[in-house]
Amino acid sequence: MQAGRRLAHEVCAPCHAVEAGQDRSPHRQAPPFEQIARVPGMTTTALTVALRTSHETMPNIMLEPKELRDVTAYITSLRNRPARDQSRVP
Ligand code: HEC
Repeated sequence: MQAGRRLAHEVCAPCHAVEAGQDRSPHRQAPPFEQIARVPGMTTTALTVALRTSHETMPNIMLEPKELRDVTAYITSLRNRPARDQSRVP
């Protein structure tokens, strides 16, 4: 999981907000990873498919199978963060 986080910072961060709690991405159209993680049904499998197919605006990012596993595991892990309670804090 740490590997996935590092990879996200190196490869994805120029466009995506990759940390939990960031609600704005550097690239206007790129959804923050925490938001992606919260999409219902967004499993590692769905993420893998999304990464391989619907990324037309992205340069061709070639990830090793292991890197792909790491980074999708990292993204889905963001979902487990208890963000709702924190958002009530003024
Ligand atoms: C050059 C900018 C750029 C980089 C680098 C980039 N992305 Fe994206 N990504 C986008 C944009 C723009 C979108 C939204 C439009 C689209 O789907 O093409 C997007 C969408 C996504 C989606 C949602 C796809 C869907 O179908 O909902 C996922 C998941 C994603 N990116 C993961 C990643 C991961 C993981 C990395 C790093 C390995 C990464 N992106 C690197 C620009 C980028």
